[in-house]
Amino acid sequence: DAASWSLRTSYHFRPEKNWMNDPNGPVFYKGFYHFFYQYNPYGAAWGDIVWGHAVSRDMIQWVHLDIALVPDKWYDVQGVWSGSITVGDDGIPIILYTGSSYSAEQTQNIAYPEDPSDPLLRKWVKDHENPVLRHPRGIDFKDFRDPTTAWKDADGYWLMTVGAKMEKTGLALLYKSVDLKHWELQNNVLHAVLGTGMWECVDFYPVPVQGHHGLDTYIAAPTMKYVLKASLDDDKHDYYALGSYDTVKKTFHPDDTARDTGIGLRYDYGKFYASKSFFDPEKQRRILWGWVNESDSLVADIAKGWASVQAIPRSVWFDSKTMSNLIQEPIEEVKTLRGTRVTQRDVKLAPGDVVEVTGAVGGQLDIELVFDYPYMTNPAQYAQNRDHYDCNQGGAAYRGVFGPFGLLVLADEYLQEQTAVFFYVSYSRYHNKWTTKFCSDQTRSSLWPDVDTTVYGSFVEVLPSEDFLSLRVLVDGSIVESFAQGGRVVITSRVYPTIAADQNARLYLFNNATTAINVRNIDAWQMSSVPLRTI
Ligand code: FRU
Repeated sequence: DAASWSLRTSYHFRPEKNWMNDPNGPVFYKGFYHFFYQYNPYGAAWGDIVWGHAVSRDMIQWVHLDIALVPDKWYDVQGVWSGSITVGDDGIPIILYTGSSYSAEQTQNIAYPEDPSDPLLRKWVKDHENPVLRHPRGIDFKDFRDPTTAWKDADGYWLMTVGAKMEKTGLALLYKSVDLKHWELQNNVLHAVLGTGMWECVDFYPVPVQGHHGLDTYIAAPTMKYVLKASLDDDKHDYYALGSYDTVKKTFHPDDTARDTGIGLRYDYGKFYASKSFFDPEKQRRILWGWVNESDSLVADIAKGWASVQAIPRSVWFDSKTMSNLIQEPIEEVKTLRGTRVTQRDVKLAPGDVVEVTGAVGGQLDIELVFDYPYMTNPAQYAQNRDHYDCNQGGAAYRGVFGPFGLLVLADEYLQEQTAVFFYVSYSRYHNKWTTKFCSDQTRSSLWPDVDTTVYGSFVEVLPSEDFLSLRVLVDGSIVESFAQGGRVVITSRVYPTIAADQNARLYLFNNATTAINVRNIDAWQMSSVPLRTI
């Protein structure tokens, strides 16, 4: 019906129907961005997994191609699971993927393009020597999956990792090869972290210490940091750590052991899983893809006939201001979808205000917003504001001195449905400094009863030199992606408005703080839809 149709996203990547999960093997080849993904061709629930395939010139407009890999061999008959692409010395991409065998053993396999001169890489051939890797001694046959893109090390060998676990320790097994086909297990692991459980979809890549540009996985230099990401099967979140890579020992070392992989930073504090990055040689940047699952029930997914979207690809780089996290930003190409724009400057929000951003109508928006950091205008109230707010504690409806304040997106005119994306600023006596929480509250996002409405949130670092709070939000039918403080913290949520959809969707500024809040500027663009194309 109309309601479930409007829940469809209009400019996010998704197949026409059925189930999708992890992004796989993103690569730029002969003028096209290639994207593969875990796909069930038979229904809207996980199972019978193949590699779906699509190509694009800009990662926004896609052409969907035939399925690239299907389960048709003993070693992958229960599913062609996640993997990566490595471009070999000859410039030809090779897929390394996990097969779930007839006995559910996880095997690593390779596939080549049948015709490397085809820029669309439509046909893939599995190697007759597959599987190229079986699980090593000490690793359970079901805890061995998702090979990374291989990197050429300083000594000229290829290295790559496969995620695994031993007892409750999550780890990245290390393999070495000369030809990307014959792999040899190394004695040491790239990295392991106690208590983190199975590491799915490990990702490992360098980022320069200065600048926004990306680096290819093969380059080694002292002026870079390394990112090691693991998707934790136990809690379904993507965790990364920043650190260094010892090119002699072939090991990763986190800068801060308290924020190691799996126990510290997350790419996203909402829904975003099994992500994978790649180096884009065309624009010299590192791009991050991530799977955004549904928050409704399986029954609802089957009724609507589709499940999951991919987040808008993100450019990622090292935050040279905080020196302790990555910055993520929607790729610049998303701006090609921007249409009608509304702008407001210097909007004073009195305590309790809810103000419509007139003209910002519809379920597809791109919003940029800057607030004055509240303590700048209210220094007298430091003393009263010593509470410890948690995003879950009353959500957007809480009343504090300096929060919550922010946006209501996908809201109807009577505010029966609304998704609140907001900040909460407080003075921490314990840390003796101002702290800022960034939250996304889904509790009133839908009149449907059967949806997960968890409130998401995290701390966001605001530097003493920054007298503002910034927010970027992409809204698309049933997905809300929110980037705080220039992309230091990201929260993605799935919401299911029954009334606040399409032309009934409105945008509001709100201030539930007991102090006035100033909006320096807000810009909201209506976003065009991307047609679904297949060949
Ligand atoms: C992550 C994951 C991977 C696996 C794939 C199967 O979501 O469980 O570990 O390869 O999905 O679809």
